[in-house]
Amino acid sequence: MTDNGMLKVAMPKGRIYKQASKLFREAGLPIPEDFDDSRRLIVPVPEANMEFILAKPVDVPTYVEYGVADIGVVGKDVLMEENKDVYELLDLGIAKCRMSVIGLPGWKPVIHPRVATKYPNVASQYFRERGQQVEVIKLNGSIELAPLIGLADRIVDMVETGQTLKENGLVEMETMFAVTSRLIANRVSYRLKNAQIQELCDRIGRHVPARS
Ligand code: PRP
Repeated sequence: MTDNGMLKVAMPKGRIYKQASKLFREAGLPIPEDFDDSRRLIVPVPEANMEFILAKPVDVPTYVEYGVADIGVVGKDVLMEENKDVYELLDLGIAKCRMSVIGLPGWKPVIHPRVATKYPNVASQYFRERGQQVEVIKLNGSIELAPLIGLADRIVDMVETGQTLKENGLVEMETMFAVTSRLIANRVSYRLKNAQIQELCDRIGRHVPARS
């Protein structure tokens, strides 16, 4: 595949995108303004020798692992769940939230509880490491429904503002780990386009929000 040294960047659609594009623009990277509201999936920016690809967040590590994108922006939650063979280059410090165990208030332990989640690998590993036997049920969204309608005893999900929990009468039982977005790179691209990737990392790194 010839790409004339063009750097291909996979950006996640959805809630991370706005914060990532803001950070990239602050770092002087030329993401076209109209890209934010358009339905276009590929935007070449020849003057910067870059091409932006808008992907479903969960697919970003796959595009980067296979090298169809050289680098990508992805949440630590997805990185941990997908476990792809990519380099994690930089903590972008954006889209801050946490992965938590959640349940109904007053929940009593049961033998072999059912845990619903979008993150079956993360959840299985977490409970296995604690010697707790659970049945993990994979769902694809609106996870908070599961304990409300009796599908699961607990859920493992992301908490950002806590609003979804509050509105559904659920409580955070344990915080598992903090989540932010990361910059990742394909292993071969990182070697072949090292100067370009390193320069971009340095530029973005200077604009990463301070840890709070
Ligand atoms: C995520 C997550 C929670 C919610 C947390 O869902 O799964 O449901 O956001 O945010 P909050 O603490 O600010 O309320 P998302 O909106 O991505 O949709 P989903 O239900 O399809 O996973």
